[in-house]
Amino acid sequence: MVEAVQGAKVVVTGAGGGIGAALARRFAAQGAQVVVNDLDAEGAKAVAEEIGGIAVPGDASTIVSEARDALGGTVDVYCANAGVGRNGGEPGEPLDEAAWSLSWDVNVMAHVRAAHALLPDWLERGSGRFVSTVSAAGLLTMIGTAPYSVTKHGAYAFAEWLSLTYRHRGVKVHAICPQGVRTGMLDASGSAGELVLKPNAIEPDDVADALFRGIEEDRFLILPHPEVAEYYQARAAEPERWLKGMNRIQQQWEATR
Ligand SMILES: NC(=O)c1ccc[n+]([C@@H]2O[C@H](COP(=O)([O-])OP(=O)(O)OC[C@H]3O[C@@H](n4cnc5c(N)ncnc54)[C@H](O)[C@@H]3O)[C@@H](O)[C@H]2O)c1
Repeated sequence: MVEAVQGAKVVVTGAGGGIGAALARRFAAQGAQVVVNDLDAEGAKAVAEEIGGIAVPGDASTIVSEARDALGGTVDVYCANAGVGRNGGEPGEPLDEAAWSLSWDVNVMAHVRAAHALLPDWLERGSGRFVSTVSAAGLLTMIGTAPYSVTKHGAYAFAEWLSLTYRHRGVKVHAICPQGVRTGMLDASGSAGELVLKPNAIEPDDVADALFRGIEEDRFLILPHPEVAEYYQARAAEPERWLKGMNRIQQQWEATR
């Protein structure tokens, strides 16, 4: 059992399936009381029933106060996990403003809104934990989808900002940055996902394992695919070389389409 989590009151957004469901199951198995949120009400209810949690369906951006009430007035851990993968319109297609706007809203602003709702209480208590399911796309990029790549960079930047601003006041932040994970989102990622994500995809439970190791080690950056650390270093150290390499992957992808 992880002491920091036993008896904790936890909210996981987008937990009707995929990574969120794996996180919710793991927190419950560690003795936490879990609110299971998802836009997919049936999915949220099924996972909540399975783990003895509480389903709070709805848009992740709007459920913080309902989730807090369901947990008796306190949230100890908030997992901002709900996310959307959209392609914003390729050259020659119309710019898909709706895809960009949804990506900002779910992948970034839902985190910002939740933090705003939670921080006053966390700062007063001197404790709270914010877990952001970002993506390796937030540290590197994802070919074929500008809105996902850009907004995941935003989610990472926001998590980083929260961590450096509030860590001395008892707020812990974790940013989970996996590459491919076998979920509905990976299945929907098309030929780009097939090329770059599927070959070394891991299970949602592996992401939960990595998060819990990170909680025990008190680490901000959670890399379920450890090789991402090398790619991230390479990107920072030699941006031209890194871009050339990524462009080679882009061309490889174009050749498959
Ligand atoms: N699967 C991957 O390869 C992968 C890799 C890196 C990061 N991620 C990230 O992991 C997170 C979880 O994705 P997943 O892979 O489990 O995909 P998924 O599609 O299985 O799960 C995402 C869940 O979020 C829910 N959701 C979407 N918008 C919502 C909203 N506004 N409010 C509440 N729920 C909402 C969906 O209904 C769905 O159940 C996402 O943030 C995703 O970007 C996934």
